[in-house]
Amino acid sequence: MRKKIVAGNWKMNMNYDEGLELAASLDQYFSEKAPSGAEVIICPPFIHLAGISQNLKSGNVALGAQNCASEASGAFTGEVSADMIRSTGAEYVIIGHSERRSYYNEDDSLLNKKTVLALNSGLKVIFCCGEIKEEREDGSYFEVVKRQIEKGLFPLAAKEMKNIIIAYEPVWAIGTGLTATPDQAQEMHLHIRELVREKYGTEIADKLTILYGGSCKPSNASDIFSRPDVDGGLIGGASLKKDDFTAIVEAMKQT
Ligand code: PGA
Repeated sequence: MRKKIVAGNWKMNMNYDEGLELAASLDQYFSEKAPSGAEVIICPPFIHLAGISQNLKSGNVALGAQNCASEASGAFTGEVSADMIRSTGAEYVIIGHSERRSYYNEDDSLLNKKTVLALNSGLKVIFCCGEIKEEREDGSYFEVVKRQIEKGLFPLAAKEMKNIIIAYEPVWAIGTGLTATPDQAQEMHLHIRELVREKYGTEIADKLTILYGGSCKPSNASDIFSRPDVDGGLIGGASLKKDDFTAIVEAMKQT
């Protein structure tokens, strides 16, 4: 059985007090209704991590960051290292989100460097991949995702792969209200799992958690999560609303 995960990517939303409040109300919810069978992760902005970490009491909500520096430490003004993230109590970090790839020009080799640093710091990595609209339309999407996975992840050793979660997020579906159909998600997830199987073998491939992300919401979550290779979701907009996020987690529990 693979681990099912629902992770919330808050992006650059919520001031500190609002973030503490949302985290506390999710923590309260999941202390009463344990997300049995699914792990819940929230990924707030960096400055929220330590405060939220100290306030999580239920043991049913894990914490992650949205990015980390590509260097371990030193004179890199404005950066936040993987070690610093881990020292707050956070256990996860999102790497390679399409917004980082496109707005901050993060390429495959930089993302691999960040991934290695994060793993060395004891973080688990939610590694994002996904094609843009033009690549969906010209039919190159399998190739694009293959390249992202091969360059970003395949330099890793097999034992490092055990701490990787992959999130397939078609860029044309992020924040647009367009969602991949359950069939589109399933065929890409299977493609990813087969790539990992070829490189690392069946045990690692079968245990790999692959999340879907892109306009996932309570009304479409069950359909997407019901597919065999979809092991949960990376949720943007809907993770900012307690009722939507908890409804998505409930949808995951029922699969
Ligand atoms: P969305 O974002 O759910 O708002 O589409 C998903 C993501 O970017 O991780």
